[in-house]
Amino acid sequence: MSSTTLTKLPIEEFQAHRLAFFKQMPSNSVAIISANTEVTRSNDTEYGFCQDKNFYYLTGFNEPDALLVLVKDENNHCESILFCLAKDALQEVWHGRRIGQEKAVADYKVEHAFTCDEIDSYLPDYIDGKSQVLFPFANDVLTSKVFGWIAQVKSTLRQGGHAPSNLFDSAVITNELRLIKSSNELALMRQANIISGNAHQRAMQKAGVGKFEYQVEAEILHEFARNGARYAAYGTIVAGGDNANILHYTNNSDVLNNNELLLIDAGGELDGYAADITRTFPINGKFTTEQKAIYQLVLDAKNLAVNAIKPGMSFAKLNVLTIEFLTKGLLELGVLSGDLTALIEEKKVKDYFIHGLGHWLGLDVHDVGDYHANAEREQHRPFEQGMVMTIEPGIYIPLSDLNVDEKWRGIGVRIEDNIAVTAQGFENLTQDAPDTIDAIEALMAKANS
Ligand code: GLY
Ligand code: MN
Ligand code: MN
Repeated sequence: MSSTTLTKLPIEEFQAHRLAFFKQMPSNSVAIISANTEVTRSNDTEYGFCQDKNFYYLTGFNEPDALLVLVKDENNHCESILFCLAKDALQEVWHGRRIGQEKAVADYKVEHAFTCDEIDSYLPDYIDGKSQVLFPFANDVLTSKVFGWIAQVKSTLRQGGHAPSNLFDSAVITNELRLIKSSNELALMRQANIISGNAHQRAMQKAGVGKFEYQVEAEILHEFARNGARYAAYGTIVAGGDNANILHYTNNSDVLNNNELLLIDAGGELDGYAADITRTFPINGKFTTEQKAIYQLVLDAKNLAVNAIKPGMSFAKLNVLTIEFLTKGLLELGVLSGDLTALIEEKKVKDYFIHGLGHWLGLDVHDVGDYHANAEREQHRPFEQGMVMTIEPGIYIPLSDLNVDEKWRGIGVRIEDNIAVTAQGFENLTQDAPDTIDAIEALMAKANS
């Protein structure tokens, strides 16, 4: 990894995120966004902590139980207040260091920091007299706390308290901000893709007949962490043979068989930003004739969609292109039969291409941001520079599908790249995970020689 590689966003980036959020708050309002809390795995042990992504986007702060309060007064003066865990020598000896209030102000550039113990006594004061409260409506724990704090203000009406009645879902703002990536965010996602692409290469080199899916998963996680992406962005999918036809297969418990394909959907997370890459390859290093045919069709569909990406394009238009292309291909192979136009019209290919073409990508693997323009129900929103998405066509023919010739059964192929929209066209962030049949077979032959 070169020393100039970006592996963490500078704190100024998070300040810029807050500034952009403040711009959209009305005068005399307060926004309240909470961090995640730790989740019990078993008895007194917890799962690895994952921060709330909206909270992280606005703070860069990675401790549990914190609360961000953004205040914009009548004169549009803005202040950020962070409530976080108090320094505590005993807790820190047992569970790890805490940043504390002093360093929160110094390093995270908020105006004030207080302890979590002070939240319930301070919040009614921040809310009192404001005309609007913004918070994430999807967070029911926080929502009920906000209503509690508002009720407390209401109980002071006779003493001059004024409770806001205007509530606004802060996700409407954070979703849109997060959808457009800055050049630093793009640099991180590029790096997450390089690391993840190398992990896919390692998987191709280490997979083989007789190995277990989880052993290949271990190779991937090893390669992520070794290169700075300590966590996977989502549950790694290592699906041999017919398991590839289970879309979110994460059991990864089966043995890998000769003459079957292996579908791997794996992406590392770098400073919270996800990569989401899928590759499918033959376990023994050589595609069979039928595997090759389906694979090449999916690869061509993926490239067709990727190459069409530019500002103004939309998922809806890409879907039309891809559905037509895959329908024609499956008809030529004999997987589908009938009249091309009729098959396209009834979207018959969706029997085999059973999920969407792609999704936004960012701090969440299925990232936030509206897919629709206005009230359109189809995904017509025009792409803009700075959006990042996956393109991931797939064809899935389970062993149980008796409508097709036996030779096709048990083949599941998905190929997934991560694409950034640029001023004129696109940048394919997924450069390091081989996808052509020749490149995959050559890499696997080299590994086995
Ligand atoms: N890894 C989940 C997806 O591709 O959407
Ligand atoms: Mn995806
Ligand atoms: Mn994926």
